[in-house]
Amino acid sequence: MKEAHRVIAIDGPAASGKSSVARELAQRLGFLYVNSGAMYRAITWHVLQHGVDPDDGARIAQTVESARITCCLENNQSRILIDDVDPTDHLRDDRVNEGVSRVSSVPRVREILVAKMRSYARHHDLVMEGRDIGSFVFPDTAYKFYIDASPEVRLHRRAAQGQRDEIAARDRADSSRRASPLVIAEDAHVIDSSNFTIESVVGEIIGRLKMKGLAI
Ligand code: C5P
Repeated sequence: MKEAHRVIAIDGPAASGKSSVARELAQRLGFLYVNSGAMYRAITWHVLQHGVDPDDGARIAQTVESARITCCLENNQSRILIDDVDPTDHLRDDRVNEGVSRVSSVPRVREILVAKMRSYARHHDLVMEGRDIGSFVFPDTAYKFYIDASPEVRLHRRAAQGQRDEIAARDRADSSRRASPLVIAEDAHVIDSSNFTIESVVGEIIGRLKMKGLAI
């Protein structure tokens, strides 16, 4: 089914610069910004808070099914509340960084979150970033981008943020899982951001969107 509103999909590996690019792009276009990684992180935090082992898929599915997941908007950005708790301050905790790839590989978790992601497009034009947005969540959108950067640059970016985050391990897990892995969608435009500023990557995307006829 084709989405009611325009969707720009921005996928890529960890620390490729896609969040900064997606946020800036959404602001420039006046589209809603949705960070799907933050949704998987919020669920991971929730299951860890409930003492669930991140390798126990059955209990993870059970815990997520019984949670009340509310998606809301604030300053044109999506926000997720779980059982009325806002986990925003914990999304980058070490244990969330460590567990998120395992939790997000559980098919039921993906099913529940993908339904929420798709529902945003019923009411808003979106820029959504993630791993499988162009390949799986919105395969029919004509606007797909894959932002990459060299492993050295990505490591450097994470270190500059002061985070302990095994990005190579996450990328391996995200690319090899069975349920909608990280892949480059066939019709995605690939941009290597290693040597470019956010502004120039956003400029390239806007140029490409105009070429494709998006009225912006
Ligand atoms: O984008 P970010 O690095 O915050 O994503 C955290 C994790 O969430 C990823 O490593 C991946 O395991 C999961 N994720 C996913 N599908 C998405 C977005 C994120 O599986 N669309």
